Amino acid sequence: MSLNLVAMVFLLVTVVVSEDTSFTYNGFQSNHLYLDGDAEFTTNGMLRLTNDTKQQKGHAFYPNPVVFKNTFNASVSSFSTTFVFAMRSEYLNLGGDGIVFVISPTKGLPNPLPSQYLGLFNEINNGNKSNHVFGVELDTIQNSEFGDINDNHVGIDINELKSVKSAPAGYFSGGEFKNLSLISGYSMQVWVEYDGVKKQINVTLAPIYVDKPENPLLSLTKDLSPILNSSMYVGFSSSTGSVLTSHYVLGWSFKMNGQAQKLAICELPKLPRFGNKESMVLTVGLPLISISLVLMVALAVVHVMKRRKFAELLEDWEQDYGPHRFKFKDLSIATKGFRENELLGSGGFGRVYKGVMPVSKIEVAVKRVSHESRQGMREFVAEIVSIGRLRHRNLVPLLGYCRRKGELLLVYEYMPNGSLDKYLYNHPRVTLNWSQRFRIIKGIALGLFYLHEEWEQVVVHRDIKASNVLLDAELNGRLGDFGLSRLYDHGTDPQTTHVVGTLGYLAPEHTRTGKVTTSSDVFAFGAFLLEVVCGRRPVEQVGESESVILVDWVYECWKRGEVLEAKDPNLGTNYRSEEVVLVLKLGLLCSHSEPLVRPCMRQVVQYLERDVPLPDISLLSLSSAGLSFGHHEDFQDCPMSYPSSMDRPLSHTSSIAESLLSGGR
Ligand SMILES: *[C@@H]1O[C@H](CO)[C@@H](O)[C@H](O)[C@H]1NC(C)=O
Ligand SMILES: *[C@@H]1O[C@H](CO)[C@@H](O)[C@H](O)[C@H]1NC(C)=O
Ligand SMILES: *[C@@H]1O[C@H](CO)[C@@H](O)[C@H](O)[C@H]1NC(C)=O
Ligand SMILES: *[C@@H]1O[C@H](CO)[C@@H](O)[C@H](O)[C@H]1NC(C)=O
Ligand SMILES: *[C@@H]1O[C@H](CO)[C@@H](O)[C@H](O)[C@H]1NC(C)=O
Ligand SMILES: *[C@@H]1O[C@H](CO)[C@@H](O)[C@H](O)[C@H]1NC(C)=O
Repeated sequence: MSLNLVAMVFLLVTVVVSEDTSFTYNGFQSNHLYLDGDAEFTTNGMLRLTNDTKQQKGHAFYPNPVVFKNTFNASVSSFSTTFVFAMRSEYLNLGGDGIVFVISPTKGLPNPLPSQYLGLFNEINNGNKSNHVFGVELDTIQNSEFGDINDNHVGIDINELKSVKSAPAGYFSGGEFKNLSLISGYSMQVWVEYDGVKKQINVTLAPIYVDKPENPLLSLTKDLSPILNSSMYVGFSSSTGSVLTSHYVLGWSFKMNGQAQKLAICELPKLPRFGNKESMVLTVGLPLISISLVLMVALAVVHVMKRRKFAELLEDWEQDYGPHRFKFKDLSIATKGFRENELLGSGGFGRVYKGVMPVSKIEVAVKRVSHESRQGMREFVAEIVSIGRLRHRNLVPLLGYCRRKGELLLVYEYMPNGSLDKYLYNHPRVTLNWSQRFRIIKGIALGLFYLHEEWEQVVVHRDIKASNVLLDAELNGRLGDFGLSRLYDHGTDPQTTHVVGTLGYLAPEHTRTGKVTTSSDVFAFGAFLLEVVCGRRPVEQVGESESVILVDWVYECWKRGEVLEAKDPNLGTNYRSEEVVLVLKLGLLCSHSEPLVRPCMRQVVQYLERDVPLPDISLLSLSSAGLSFGHHEDFQDCPMSYPSSMDRPLSHTSSIAESLLSGGR
């Protein structure tokens, strides 16, 4: 009798114990998980959910079901889990799409989609209450359809991708909030805890070297009992979008009814190093020790020389930008040592070289900007990195940067068709037809509209001109070089405001005050419009002492009622005159000397799309307000040299402008 009782108690205990699933993986050498899609274990024991592919997904689940509700109680019991992850992308601050920790009735739902669906849902089952799915998403793309707050957030998802609660990635340390970048490429740890009595979920995030912060990033009071079934699977789902990204999990522990075991951080497998291969001397040099001392000395000398050749500047604050910092050595190899043959061009800011990155074989354009002052470099790099997050089909993507003594190198995606100005001025000898030009104009308008109004902060381009418009393989116009002139704002003497930009595109108020605004960009855009339609530069020298100012000339044509006369004769007869007239008039309107009269880029886009008719410019008293460059007296301060045709004394031009003004229009 008493023996039976003992046996029964023992049985009960074992049942209860066996129901409290608990496991810990410090690395995944033992390979006990269920995997599908792109998920695999790497040779050094990492779980790689997606393997550097686009539009793919991967899943990893603990193979056995986990009991979340015991037989006597319909409430979900407490549980706790923690894992270490890392996301590595080919680009600067751009990856996608993310990782979700999932609790699901099966090892994943049927027919999941990649990209924004995170390999978890599809457009039909997303949001269906019979999903019975709980998730914690680490999401690096902002999808407005799911109400994402930004492109770097942590969210609690129930049955759908629209998070019940979310927060920008980061953690609390000593009462202060610290931002984290999920796709920085560095390892981070996540804790997800549920208290079955308080019905509370906490989600906490921290860099791997920080102990679990006391305050969670997200805390939600929600009873999971109606959502979770009694028997569920736990694991991860991940997906990629259109950027090559690898999603890794390095360690994972889970426990029902208790605290998940701490991960042994030091034992976790190591991520591949940023950049690539080990140093040559390390791998080659070591076996040589026993062979010959002489050889070693020789090698060491070579190494030192090589080190000097490839020396770069790297400061502590740059650690955060790790993945977006290119190695000078790689850039040097990519451009064959910055050979003249690889030179694509040289502009106001420096020389641009074509290159092919050694491992990825991505084609890049590397711009070498000489910059002696270290002052403001930190802010500038922060800005460059933030600019790297700008994504628009009409902007040239910035991939990353590198710093050396006295020099900054910016790495852009390579644009195979070069810059627009060459096509306008017959070099190469290809003339763009009207529909190509009109498409480029509309594209650049959209790109600038994005910079001014659609991105999270207002970005003033500051140097819009045909030579800063690049053409991609499909001859789409893409704006390049944005924000670069900022570098010279942080210049040596903060008291003087340098006017940076290009003559002919500089708004009068800009040259007067040195202040740049979105409407000074619109002014430059106006000059650009006229340039593209007329095939002439904003200021052209005729003979020894005369200049033609394009906007004045177009204005004269318009006043005579012959605005079409201004168009590029190379356009031939194959054009739509109403479009040509529209762009010319819009060019005049944007060139108005009064900033308030100029349209904003939103209006410009509407006019070009003909959603809204262009205002009657004759009513805008152009003649009295004038269309001119205004005064250029500050121009001598300009620290830059300009492309040849603009390189001429300013006083001269303003006198022309003045004589035109007094010539009474
Ligand atoms: C990624 O995984 C898929 C499926 O396992 C495989 O076919 C592909 O070769 C892998 N790609 C890389 C870059 O490892
Ligand atoms: C989950 O529970 C619901 C009812 O609570 C049930 O209809 C459904 O079939 C269960 N799902 C699975 C996969 O067991
Ligand atoms: C939700 O999914 C269930 C099971 O797949 C299906 O029967 C039901 O029609 C779906 N509900 C909606 C609103 O789509
Ligand atoms: C953290 O990021 C937010 C936006 O994501 C930004 O507004 C804030 O300035 C950042 N804080 C720090 C300290 O970088
Ligand atoms: C969530 O965090 C709060 C604040 O630290 C704490 O009081 C609470 O007990 C936590 N709840 C869980 C489920 O861990
Ligand atoms: C069921 O479990 C919850 C928490 O796990 C507890 O608060 C509740 O009292 C339990 N109910 C019963 C009937 O045991």
